[in-house]
Amino acid sequence: RLEKVSHKPLAGKKVVVTAGGTIERIDPVRFITNDSSGKMGFAVARAAQQLGADVVIIAGNTQASPPPGIAITHVESAIDMFEAVSALWEDTDILVKAAAVADYRPKERAAQKMKKSGDTMTLELVKNIDILETLGHKKSSQFLIGFAAETDNLEKYAMDKLRRKNCDLLIGNDVTAMGAGFGSDTNVVHIYDTNGLALSLPVLSKEEVGLRILECAVDRIAGSSE
Ligand code: CTP
Ligand code: CA
Repeated sequence: RLEKVSHKPLAGKKVVVTAGGTIERIDPVRFITNDSSGKMGFAVARAAQQLGADVVIIAGNTQASPPPGIAITHVESAIDMFEAVSALWEDTDILVKAAAVADYRPKERAAQKMKKSGDTMTLELVKNIDILETLGHKKSSQFLIGFAAETDNLEKYAMDKLRRKNCDLLIGNDVTAMGAGFGSDTNVVHIYDTNGLALSLPVLSKEEVGLRILECAVDRIAGSSE
């Protein structure tokens, strides 16, 4: 299907895609991260390129190889990702927040490798900035696409996040569904907009999911400028 894309509805548009998981350092050799593979973000980036966009990827920790021919900035922590996305914000037409941003980071980052001592150890964590929510409340012409992977109450959590973060689309995926979730080459998503559920897609390749998400965005951007 991707090969067949010949229309370029995103020509002249700048699409910024975040992918992968953030890394939150404990000390120079240890960190906290999550299972995000980066595949969904990379697939959206490829789809955006197929649709003619000028694409930039901001990638955290990923298992997948980044798509060739697309500009990529590697970042580590949520704070680094926020700075990288913020630097592009003024010129961004569509922001796709497929990254799994760590909700918390270690309160202290030890400058030297920590030594073991007692039989238990407690790591104090502090909340990270919510990148999407912060930018959602600053948005002017930008179109914001958030993601939510849930194990239960998908519609409720997806709509709560869409509203709280002032997103235009929220891509919900039930990680318990067959063919969905971390590391997989396929995904099963439900696309929500400000009115509620807009589209439920069957099991599709992440490439195809990326294309369908961007087509939804294109429809809405076109509609709002008429
Ligand atoms: N997100 C973000 N910054 C954060 C946390 C999340 O930009 N610090 C973005 C993610 O990239 C994703 C969306 O917000 O696009 C939803 O992420 P999710 O983890 O599902 O939402 P949270 O608000 O963190 O809620 P919770 O983890 O409690 O479900
Ligand atoms: Ca979270």
